[in-house]
Amino acid sequence: MSDTAPIEHPTWLTGGDFTEADEPVRLFAAWFAEAKRAEPVNPDAMALATVGSDGLPNVRMVLLKGFDARGFVFYTNVDSVKGHELTDAPKAALTFYWKALQRQVRARGTVEPVTKEEADAYFASRSRMAQIGAWSSRQSSPLESRMAFEKAIAANTAKFGISTVPRPPFWSGYRVMPVEIEFWQERLYRLHDRIAFTRPDLQAPWTKTRLYP
Ligand SMILES: Cc1cc2nc3c(=O)[nH]c(=O)nc-3n(C[C@H](O)[C@H](O)[C@H](O)COP(=O)(O)O)c2cc1C
Repeated sequence: MSDTAPIEHPTWLTGGDFTEADEPVRLFAAWFAEAKRAEPVNPDAMALATVGSDGLPNVRMVLLKGFDARGFVFYTNVDSVKGHELTDAPKAALTFYWKALQRQVRARGTVEPVTKEEADAYFASRSRMAQIGAWSSRQSSPLESRMAFEKAIAANTAKFGISTVPRPPFWSGYRVMPVEIEFWQERLYRLHDRIAFTRPDLQAPWTKTRLYP
């Protein structure tokens, strides 16, 4: 097929005309539900960009553990590099890429910690090994050897015995509260669809804009 052939947009590629959506929350929920069906590994993985104290952007993957009209929630060690960056500059950008659907979603916004109750509930839902791992990892700090980490895990396993593992005080979650969410769908010949929803602040209604690809 040459680049001058008539452009066709089969529904398997476009997944319906999402550009008709008039607000981003339901559209994200629909795309995320489709991604969970289509992506075999980590459909909830998102790149989280923060701002370092030196002004350099920093980015790493985290997992989306909650989403609603308030924003995107992930969990981490609050004493990690990202935790300190978010304390100093509580702003972030996120990118999801769902290869199987040829879709990208980007979001930017301010960040606040989740409540103690939310963090407790999510921590309690994790596997016991992951809970002990959280106690044993001084995330982003230098680690002299794998053995030192395994010793910390063994010590915490013995310490907690068969009792409930409480949430570590240095482990919690953050909510990225978006003022921008952009949806990108790959289309034939790189004539992609992009729809951006923006609002000047978290209380304002969303404005929708179609962007050139
Ligand atoms: C697919 C994937 C998912 C991840 N999910 C998380 C997560 O939910 N929370 C987390 O703290 N780190 C997660 N990580 C590890 C982070 O990318 C990162 O290595 C770690 O959080 C330390 O980042 P920092 O030094 O910038 O704080 C994940 C890594 C990958 C590749």
